[in-house]
Amino acid sequence: MASSSSSTRKPYKGKLGQDFTTNVINSMGPGTSPRMREVMSVFIQHIHDFARETNLTVDEWMSAVQMINWAGQMSNDKRNEGQLMCDIIGLESLVDDITYQSAVESGNAATASAILGPFWRETPVRANGTSISSNTPADASPVFMHGKVTDATTGKPIANATVDLWQASTNGLYEQQDDNQAEHNLRGKFVTDSNGEYSLYCLRPTPYPIPNDGPSGKLLSLLDRHEWRPAHIHLIVLAEGYKGLTTQIFDQDSKYLNDDSVFAVKDDLTVAFTERKGDDQAKLEVEYNVKLAPVV
Ligand code: BEZ
Ligand code: FE
Repeated sequence: MASSSSSTRKPYKGKLGQDFTTNVINSMGPGTSPRMREVMSVFIQHIHDFARETNLTVDEWMSAVQMINWAGQMSNDKRNEGQLMCDIIGLESLVDDITYQSAVESGNAATASAILGPFWRETPVRANGTSISSNTPADASPVFMHGKVTDATTGKPIANATVDLWQASTNGLYEQQDDNQAEHNLRGKFVTDSNGEYSLYCLRPTPYPIPNDGPSGKLLSLLDRHEWRPAHIHLIVLAEGYKGLTTQIFDQDSKYLNDDSVFAVKDDLTVAFTERKGDDQAKLEVEYNVKLAPVV
């Protein structure tokens, strides 16, 4: 995109001001749903104001269109470049928090949510106490992870909740990005027992860079930003009669907690990996308890 500082530009004084924008908004027909009308009216208003305010040129607009097209062309069932573009401008984190806040305002003190990210995929159920790592790398630290899923209102344990987890390997890649990892490596679904408890072995997560070989990487370099994410494990927790939770837990000792490339870190999602004694499978453990909000 051509660089030009705003101070060298004169403000737009052409004919396509607010009347033009109002006309575009009012072109929506009576068959538009109320929510579509609301969202698109605000979107058109903001994007017109943005173009006028920045004096956006045809070349700059076309560069952005080409990036969006490039994102579409790169996306497939293993890669979601459109979502990644939203992530690096903080949009997924923002809409995630807006969604979470409306649940909190309706009185539910559930566990905080965080973005899904582009690497979730359907995975089989595994037995509690088993490992999600099928070929543990030499530089990995195995961890025993366990916790309890409870009702955010009553504190009672929730049996038969599914805890779906996924994490990148120590080379920074999720299994679907890496031909050297077994199918479903480092991901699995666990079902809570009658005490609401789940347990498994995983790896201590490590920071990794988000994919930078597409338009998102190009945008990060144009913005002079790095592509690193702090060490984290993703979770989706679902139970009948409760609002589903999508979240991430972050290693409290990780680098990049304060400058996550996708702005997903929340204070109440950081966890401590502590020493575990007497277990040949893991020298570390982490406890993560989840509170789910009942559907009212
Ligand atoms: C992830 O944590 O898997 C992720 C989130 C946003 C963008 C890229 C990756
Ligand atoms: Fe991730």
